[in-house]
Amino acid sequence: MKNLQVPTLNLKKQYELIKPEIDSALQEVIDQTAFILGPAVERFEKAFSGYCQVDETIGLNSGTAALQLLYEAVGIKRGDEVITTPFTFIATVEPLVHMGVKPVFVDIDPDTYNLDPRLIEEKITENTTAIMAVHLYGHPAPMDELAEICKKHDLLLLEDAAQSHGATYKGRPVGGLARGGAFSFYPGKNLGAFGDAGAVTTDDPQLAQKIRDLRDHGRAGKYSHIMLGHNERMDGFQGAVLDVKLKHLQEWTKIRQENANFYTNQLSSLPVKTPVVADYATHVYHQYVIQVDDRDAIVEQLREAGIGAGVHYPTPLHLQPGLQQLGYSPGDLSVSEKAADRVLSLPVFALLSSEQKDYVVSTLTDLLG
Ligand SMILES: Cc1ncc(COP(=O)(O)O)c(C=O)c1O
Repeated sequence: MKNLQVPTLNLKKQYELIKPEIDSALQEVIDQTAFILGPAVERFEKAFSGYCQVDETIGLNSGTAALQLLYEAVGIKRGDEVITTPFTFIATVEPLVHMGVKPVFVDIDPDTYNLDPRLIEEKITENTTAIMAVHLYGHPAPMDELAEICKKHDLLLLEDAAQSHGATYKGRPVGGLARGGAFSFYPGKNLGAFGDAGAVTTDDPQLAQKIRDLRDHGRAGKYSHIMLGHNERMDGFQGAVLDVKLKHLQEWTKIRQENANFYTNQLSSLPVKTPVVADYATHVYHQYVIQVDDRDAIVEQLREAGIGAGVHYPTPLHLQPGLQQLGYSPGDLSVSEKAADRVLSLPVFALLSSEQKDYVVSTLTDLLG
């Protein structure tokens, strides 16, 4: 099996599998010249609402835009503090910092990599207005515990579901578990567009309307603006691609889960920590993440062997140079820091062949066994 290549993703192969459907959906957008919002986006919004079991989906031009408009639309404002995890992609907090809001980081559970609810209350101040739960890697955060804290302290609960399309918490899909959920459809996500795209999901019609207004310059008519907004609308092409791919997502997710179970079984005798799935959760494995000693060397050796190993994330947000103004130091959030030193993501996408999966396992066994 020498020289087998196992990329992180294979978006070309995925496209080839559904080419006729994608091509005709894109052609329809061209024929209609419906390049921004339009029928394909509306069709996708409706279908995604069904998928997430929510009343409303608002199609936007990135996951970062979804977070930004969600924060803005729920009324988070300058001077507020929002509690979240440092073990996430920077977009979870970037819009907050731009808004003059202080992200307050709380350490994670070492098994699920999500916010540890037991550590939250000591970080709540009179300025805290919300908790942002991030469903990292495809595993839902502990929503009941977070909702209880929010109720007790009169805080908003929000979801960053950018990595967790279709994951469930106690049988309910993420994105419908709080006041609003932000999704990313970045091409490499479990549901990926052909460019940047994102969405907010919610059951609150007023919040949905506000986000619709904000995404389109606060428009009431072509040149009538009831508020200041942004230009964060979803493109017609992205709506068309997402609408087609959504029809396949359940099947692709099932194969990701099978791939993950295969790895977990096959790696059980090696010195690695495999993913833990909480009893309340279904995991959709946006990333299949293990922990190993001497991580950087193992990643390098895997890459030399042609395996697209990744690291999500090598530096937690509280130690990012771009967020040093928040005043954190090494050692402040030790569980996240330890995870950042040890995590390694293996290719887990739905179109992996058995040969590729076997090769990943045998290469790791050679390196660690
Ligand atoms: C947890 C998380 N939040 C937010 C984002 C931002 O999404 P986007 O890249 O679509 O702006 C991403 C993805 O990149 C993410 O993984």
